Amino acid sequence: MSLVKVLEVVKDLHSANPSLSSFVDWPKNLTSNEKSNVNIPATDLVKHFELKGSQHTQPLVSAVKEHAQFANWQRTYTEDEVGLDFLNRYGYYELIGTNGHFHSDDLRAFIAYWGEGLTYDWHSHEAEELYFLLAGSALFKTERIEKILKTNDSCYHRSWESHSMVTFSDPVLTLVLWRGNGLEILSTMDKK
Ligand SMILES: [Fe+2]
Repeated sequence: MSLVKVLEVVKDLHSANPSLSSFVDWPKNLTSNEKSNVNIPATDLVKHFELKGSQHTQPLVSAVKEHAQFANWQRTYTEDEVGLDFLNRYGYYELIGTNGHFHSDDLRAFIAYWGEGLTYDWHSHEAEELYFLLAGSALFKTERIEKILKTNDSCYHRSWESHSMVTFSDPVLTLVLWRGNGLEILSTMDKK
């Protein structure tokens, strides 16, 4: 099964949500990259994700859950960098992008999940980024700002702006958009 349904729901959310549609235009001429499904421990956690989104985000939460096992799940970091518990309760897939389920050179769109009680340490990347929370909550930090984000909230990160994230009693399910230069370069942890 492909992720066409997830793509359709993301497209609807993008056109209905000004913070998403003003961040980046919906890409033209999307084609399928025929990505194989890759399951990781977080796949099951997403499949059984219990929190509800808002009226606005729940269609995407449901589509992500229903199609979790068909996605090409990935993890950017090693156990040395983030620890085994983090690796077992986090993951993402690239829905749209140069290496996504649907090809675009103009943006990347990820579905990303973190379990409760995790610290995603300071990291950065060249592409500009917009996190949009589908369900759950997390504390987002940059040098400029520290705020708890909940469903429907978004958070912007500049190019190379270092950021970190902490989850408390809730897990968090997010849509993450990237634009600008360095789209193909993944995030790296800041050197300590
Ligand atoms: Fe980021």
